[in-house]
Amino acid sequence: MSYDDNFPERLIADAFHVLYYHSSVWNFGNTKWLGIGLFMNPFDMWVKQEIIFETKPTLILETGSAMGGSALFYATVLDQMGQGKIISVDIQDEKSGMGIPKLKHKRITFLKGNSVDLAMIKKLKSMIKASDRVMVFLDSDHSMEHVARELKAYGPMVTPGCYMVVDDTNLGGHPVVNPTVPGPGPFAAVMEYLAKEKSFEIDQSRHKFYMTWCVNGFLRKK
Ligand SMILES: C[S@@+](CC[C@H](N)C(=O)[O-])C[C@H]1O[C@@H](n2cnc3c(N)ncnc32)[C@H](O)[C@@H]1O
Repeated sequence: MSYDDNFPERLIADAFHVLYYHSSVWNFGNTKWLGIGLFMNPFDMWVKQEIIFETKPTLILETGSAMGGSALFYATVLDQMGQGKIISVDIQDEKSGMGIPKLKHKRITFLKGNSVDLAMIKKLKSMIKASDRVMVFLDSDHSMEHVARELKAYGPMVTPGCYMVVDDTNLGGHPVVNPTVPGPGPFAAVMEYLAKEKSFEIDQSRHKFYMTWCVNGFLRKK
C-alpha cells in the first residue's frame, strides 16, 4: 500500500502530522538527541536507525548539519554497531545558530560549503573508499531545484542495497504547508527524479508509522 492511498488512517495521521509539525516541540529545535537539537520527527529517526542497522553503511553522507543532532544520532547508532563514519555538510557555520556545529565526535566530519558545489561533490567523492557502503541523507535547502541537484549529484554515490533518504518531502502539502518554505519542494524533486532514474525505488514499508517527514523519500538503490 502506498503512502498516498486514501485510507481512513491516513486522514487521522495527517491531521496529527500537521498538528505536530506546527507545535513548538518540533518548530524550535526543542527535540534533542543526547542534549543536541535536531529538526527531525522521532518516528523517522527510529526508521532511519532500522535502515542503518539493516544495511550497515560504512559511510553516511548528510547534507544539512544544523545543530548536529541528526549526525550525532547516526553516530550513536554506528557506535553501537562498531563501524562507520559520517560526513555532514552545511553551508553555514555555527555563528548563525545553525550550520557546522562545535560538536566533536570521532565518527563525524563536518564540512562547510554548498552541498551541490562541484568542488564539494569532488571532495566527497575523493573521501569514498572503493570498499565503502555509502548511504545518503538529504536535509539542506528544501527548494525543489536544490533537492533535484542533490539527488542527481548524490544518487550515484549510493551503494546498491543502501538508501538515499530525502527529508521534508512532507512540505508542499504532503500534508504540511510551511509558508517559510514555499513552492513544490523536495517531494516534487523526488517524483521528477524517479520518473527518469530507475536505479532507485521508494521503500513504502518505511512509511509504517503513518507520520513521516520523508513521504516517498525513503529511496532504496536497487
Ligand atoms: C533542516 S536544517 C538540517 C537539520 C539537521 N539535519 C537536523 O536534523 O538537525 C537545514 C540545514 O541546511 C543548511 N543548508 C541550507 N542550504 C544549504 C546548502 N546549499 N548546502 C549545504 N547546507 C545547506 C542550513 O544551513 C541548515 O543548517
